[in-house]
This record gives sequence, structure tokens and C-alpha cells, in this order.
Amino acid sequence: MVLMDKTKHALIISFEGIEGTGKSTQCRLLSKYLKNKGLKVIVLREPGSSVIGEDIRRILLHGKGKLTSFSETLLFIAARCQLVEEKISVNLRKKDIIILDRFIDATLAYQGFGAGVDLKLIRKLNKAVAGDFTPNLTLLLDIEPKDGLIRSGRNDRFEKRKLSFHSRVRNGYLALAKSYHKRIKVISTKEDIKAVHKKICYFVDETLACANK
Ligand SMILES: Nc1ncnc2c1ncn2[C@@H]1O[C@H](COP(=O)(O)OP(=O)(O)OP(=O)(O)O)[C@@H](O)[C@H]1O
Ligand SMILES: [Mg+2]
Repeated sequence: MVLMDKTKHALIISFEGIEGTGKSTQCRLLSKYLKNKGLKVIVLREPGSSVIGEDIRRILLHGKGKLTSFSETLLFIAARCQLVEEKISVNLRKKDIIILDRFIDATLAYQGFGAGVDLKLIRKLNKAVAGDFTPNLTLLLDIEPKDGLIRSGRNDRFEKRKLSFHSRVRNGYLALAKSYHKRIKVISTKEDIKAVHKKICYFVDETLACANK
């Protein structure tokens, strides 16, 4: 069993990637893996995991009217602000691990690289709402956009966008992984769920070992 030092705060692990890469599946498996080690874990999704955050999620994924890219950005940032204040900061001392199903990098990839919103501005907004909560580890699950969309099978506002949009988002994520290579680890999800989980556990164990030094 890994013993976390109680004077330290929870490790934050985020999952990122385009639609259907297996983020939610792998969040669940990682949570189980860490709980089996005796660690206290909470899984949060973004946008969501707070009352207002879930309301914002409904607008973002299923809202009827046309949202401008900038309004969309601000809604994601507002949901993030609620999540940080209501859930992340509160659980920082209560839990050992906070797992996030998407977080700061998603806005850079989708609204920045994908929709052309100024990256510098997104970085500033991210810093304002989540500056103290940069993940210790980010697992970027990667797949060809057409394969991810088939897997996802959903039909929300993002899934309906053209393949070229999803390719820009994917390339944006990969560019972020290059810039922040110590934090963001890219994992291909062409392999089956179990094999992907094994790779994720390798990076997570490495991060836990560093944190316990
Ligand atoms: N490595 C994999 N190989 C094959 N199928 C997979 C793999 N990972 C996940 N799946 C399947 O793909 C589907 C989508 O997975 P999941 O919901 O975890 O993806 P997601 O990244 O959370 O999607 P979204 O971006 O839409 O939230 C599920 O049916 C899941 O069982
Ligand atoms: Mg999901």
C-alpha cells in the first residue's frame, strides 16, 4: 500500500483527449486501481461535478442557440471556477488523489487550437481560475478523430463538428504535450482498454513514487 504524506495535498491527475478516446472509462479504472492501494480518490468531470457546473454542461453540450466561440470559452471557464472552488480546493486535504475527466488543457485545445480563440487569453483565464491547481500529471489519450467519434457514438454540439475541427483539437493537444512534456504524457488508445490502463498505471505509479520521496 502506498502511504501518502498527510502534510502534503492531494495529487491532481487529469485526463484529456478528443471525443471517444476512453477518458471516462480510464478514469473509472484508475480510480479503482488507486482505491485498491488504499488511497482516497475522487473523480470529477469537467464541465460539471457541481450544481451550476452541470447546468453549464447542459448549455455547452445540448444548448439550442448558437454560442460564439468566446461565449463558449467563458462558459467553460465559469464551470471550471465552480469546480475549483466547490470541489477541488475542498478535497485537496481530504483526498489523496483528485482525478479530473478533462481540465485546463481542454479549453486550450478545443476553443484555442480548434476554434481560434486567443491562446494567451485562455492561459490568463485558466491562471485566474485554476492557477494554483495545475495537475501533477496529465494523461493525454490519443486516437484518430474518425475512430474516436465512432467510439463515442454521442451526438452533442462538439461531436457534430467537422472532422477538420477535431483534427485541429487533436494536433493542439499534441502540441501542448510537446510544450509540457514533463506533465503531459501521450498514450495511444488504439490498443484495448486493459493495455491502455496498464500504461496509465505506469505513469501514475511513477508520479506517486516521486510524491512520496
Ligand atoms: N482502448 C479502447 N478500445 C476500444 N474501445 C474503447 C477503448 N477505450 C474506450 N472504449 C470504448 O469507447 C467508448 C467511449 O469511451 P469513453 O466514454 O470512456 O470515452 P470518452 O473519451 O470519455 O468520450 P467522450 O469524449 O465522449 O466523453 C466506450 O464504449 C468504451 O467502452
Ligand atoms: Mg467521457
